[in-house]
Amino acid sequence: MFHTIIEPFRIKSVEALRFTTREERVRALEQAGFNLFLLRAEDVIIDLLTDSGTGAMSAAQWGALMQGDESYAGSRSFYRFQAVVQDLTGFRHIIPTHQGRAAERILFHSVLKAGEIVPNNNHFDTTRANVEAEGAEARDLVVAEGRVPALVHPFKGNIDLAALERTLQADGGRVPLVMVTVTNNSGGGQPVSMENLRSVRALCDKYRKPFILDACRFAENAWFIKQREPEFADWTPKRIAQAMFRLADGCTMSAKKDGLANIGGFLALNDDEWAERARTLLILTEGFPTYGGLAGYDLEAVARGLEEVVEEPYLRYRIRSTEYLAEKLVASGVPIIQPAGGHAIYIDARALLPHVPPLAYPGIALANALYVEGGVRAVEIGTVMFGLSPDGTESPAAMDLVRLAIPRRVYTQSHIDYVAEVVIKVASERDRLRGLRIVSTPRVLRHFTARFEELG
Ligand code: F0G
Repeated sequence: MFHTIIEPFRIKSVEALRFTTREERVRALEQAGFNLFLLRAEDVIIDLLTDSGTGAMSAAQWGALMQGDESYAGSRSFYRFQAVVQDLTGFRHIIPTHQGRAAERILFHSVLKAGEIVPNNNHFDTTRANVEAEGAEARDLVVAEGRVPALVHPFKGNIDLAALERTLQADGGRVPLVMVTVTNNSGGGQPVSMENLRSVRALCDKYRKPFILDACRFAENAWFIKQREPEFADWTPKRIAQAMFRLADGCTMSAKKDGLANIGGFLALNDDEWAERARTLLILTEGFPTYGGLAGYDLEAVARGLEEVVEEPYLRYRIRSTEYLAEKLVASGVPIIQPAGGHAIYIDARALLPHVPPLAYPGIALANALYVEGGVRAVEIGTVMFGLSPDGTESPAAMDLVRLAIPRRVYTQSHIDYVAEVVIKVASERDRLRGLRIVSTPRVLRHFTARFEELG
């Protein structure tokens, strides 16, 4: 009937934006060492740095906060959280953690040994860092289509099954588990098909390996499956998500994404012995197993968020609003990863700035220009994030991308129109963008704190 897909909520509480001038932003960026992570958030107008923990909670979630039971052990809020997560995932052991990387660190530190290999479609930065921190190898095996930004394909997040089988055949003794990330954040927020997940399950059965999902954006992935895999067209997103989880043996989860909460996460496992080891480590670093580093009220917010995130009107609006930004950029000739990802748009900075070589960081150059021009903060997903090997050598990442991540239920269509205007203006003046060099950097996860200097 009507074509406009409206935000499926109205706004009960607002937070003022602080406007800055171009001169103020130039100064702020210089003080931040040309690293957008080092800005004060107050100096940003539209913050698309991440969709993680930046969403707006619903009135029902805020109400649930008051129901939080802060008991150290056996909290009522834990049992509510556990019931929701178990209904969704079907996993036996539900271990709350303060966010996704805590689940990763606890899983890998309990089951991974130096010299082992973790295959994945693409590891996200913290996942890779947690694998490498154990002296193991994080091996990215996304399908070839997933590495060609302009190529349109329905499931560019799929893992390359032949490459996975080759790894399992050749190095199976060194593979303690197989991971798949839904949606594939480092590869453009692209979905993984149910067919691909089923085949991973079959390979894991054949080679007797546990299959662990990195489930941060499971609901967005479920929506793409509903749209793009005919078998699931009539399924509810929740039923699709349930089927995805039931193909795996466990998951790591950041509830800061599809948990619709500002903090929280969990590790879920079927294996009793792995769960026992994980809980022991949890007590050491996160807290008792019925709160895992969270307040009782956080567990309530996550439980409610996991119910809201699979609602159809929400997911229809969510995926459409990302696609809307993509359409505007594509219409103006801005090179982006196609099709649009679930939570973000990824600009192909290497294609947009051919005069800036990968080791002069085109992603940083572009992201910084978006900030200076319009106060829009994005993030580089490229050579600064992934170009440094554990042995200290540097090489170009597979792609140099700039991600515009859309926080959930936070910005309206006119905010997105403004973002598109800023990106299109910067793209039209691409020739004057310059590369950068690093002047100081830590040895791991350098993108968070490195400082830069613009090249002359
Ligand atoms: N896995 C994926 C695929 C992620 O995208 C993230 C976080 C994590 C794990 C870690 O979760 O932040 O709760 O510890 N991604 C955020 C981002 C930070 O901006 O994409 P966390």
